[in-house]
Amino acid sequence: MNPKAIPSTLPQGAPPVRHYLQFADFTEDEYHYLFTRAALIKQKFKTFTRHHTLGDRTLAMIFEKASTRTRVSFEAGMYQMGGSVVHLTTGDSQLGRAEPIEDSAKVISRMTDIVMIRTFEQTKIESFAANSRVPVINGLTNEFHPCQILADLFTLLEHRGTDANGQIDPNYLRGKTVTWVGDGNNMANTWLQAAATLGFHLRVSTPSGYELDEKVAVTPHGMGAGSYKIYSNPLEACADADLVTTDVWTSMGYEAENEARRKAFAAWCVDTEMMAVAKADALFMHCLPAHRGEEVQAEVIDGPQSVVWDEAENRMHVQKALMEYLLLGRKD
Ligand code: CP
Ligand code: NVA
Repeated sequence: MNPKAIPSTLPQGAPPVRHYLQFADFTEDEYHYLFTRAALIKQKFKTFTRHHTLGDRTLAMIFEKASTRTRVSFEAGMYQMGGSVVHLTTGDSQLGRAEPIEDSAKVISRMTDIVMIRTFEQTKIESFAANSRVPVINGLTNEFHPCQILADLFTLLEHRGTDANGQIDPNYLRGKTVTWVGDGNNMANTWLQAAATLGFHLRVSTPSGYELDEKVAVTPHGMGAGSYKIYSNPLEACADADLVTTDVWTSMGYEAENEARRKAFAAWCVDTEMMAVAKADALFMHCLPAHRGEEVQAEVIDGPQSVVWDEAENRMHVQKALMEYLLLGRKD
């Protein structure tokens, strides 16, 4: 970490500033803590039990792309922990009038305690973090969407990975099979890092020309290489999977490619046939928003194996655990 990023005003004994810019930034042990903590935080939310661990803290949220879930989950989550939120977009801040990202980071991080950014290139969030005095969280870039996969894995654990007492057992994930059908995009890259970090198998089936880019997903230390298998046929990729998941054919920022993508992705629609070859108790996930009839059949996303609404809700619970961890370290 750049020592210049350490604020002179930080209280004595405060944990060093950490950022969450991609899934590989945390270890398996840290994820196990976060899953367990998120379960507690969710249980307290469901029982109307106050959890004000971030009283007087302020989250800055910067959106350079549209959002529903990320906005609501971070904003509601921060208020529920006793903190408050500042919401900025490109259009209503100086970011849209070419103020350098480095200058913006220096200013915003002097007045707030934690920052969430949704933007385009990963290099932008990295520049922000390098100039920030406070933790920075990736709320989606062209390359990664780590908060979403954090929620997805927590959802998988809730549905399939609990022990006899109903407690989450994060070790459940080791050796399981997750199948990605569709674009080799920010979600696919993040799944790859998650498989490498948490020890599950990832299968990836994309149309030709839309493959996952190892240069993006694999970390500088080589984490992720060899953690996945490529399938040209999505049906084969789904055989015996524990989880089948997909995403839009055209991500935000790639709209000009919409027509070409519609043609290329026609066979990459998760349908009942694909779900039928997966394990009998396989789940279906989608980060949302979804396009029924494109990347997923309505019968699948609205069917009994789909857990997309729990998945969306869990964004809030895991991000509350994440913000608390970045600001306060481990609480138990
Ligand atoms: N899944 C997700 O990040 O949704 P939003 O784009 O609505 O934030
Ligand atoms: N891959 C999609 C995810 C949206 C939440 C996008 O980047 O637009």
